[in-house]
Amino acid sequence: MEKHLMVALMILSLHRSWVNSEDSVEQSPRTLTIQEGMNATFYCNYSSRGSDYLHWYRQDLRKSLVNLFVLITSGEVKHNGRLTVTLNTKDQQSSLHITASQPEDSATYLCAKAQCSPGI
Ligand SMILES: *[C@@H]1O[C@H](CO)[C@@H](O)[C@H](O)[C@H]1NC(C)=O
Ligand SMILES: *[C@@H]1O[C@H](CO)[C@@H](O)[C@H](O)[C@H]1NC(C)=O
Repeated sequence: MEKHLMVALMILSLHRSWVNSEDSVEQSPRTLTIQEGMNATFYCNYSSRGSDYLHWYRQDLRKSLVNLFVLITSGEVKHNGRLTVTLNTKDQQSSLHITASQPEDSATYLCAKAQCSPGI
């Protein structure tokens, strides 16, 4: 039987409001709805001069943010289950790849640049 379950993913941008306005974070696509089993990739472009940490978070409705990954080094690739993230500091871009999306992947994913170290 054909699978009709859809996976809805959404990402939002977080801005570092406490630093100068030249620093920004932009994510694309804004929203994505795909069929179960398909791959999904989100991109997070940022503009910042500091060598800050790049964080990826997941947020479920009415729940608090869960930190999924922290990246700092260019070329870094990290895996967590079916999730893979990459960081390219030269292009100032990070990607979040979801392999074989499942309904439980439906969530809001956010990326953020932050000067604080992991765990803070
Ligand atoms: C992100 O960067 C890529 C490559 O530099 C560019 O093609 C894309 O349009 C950018 N996306 C956004 C949302 O700025
Ligand atoms: C989905 O992602 C996995 C892991 O990156 C890759 O091996 C596979 O070829 C991708 N499938 C499609 C249909 O792009």
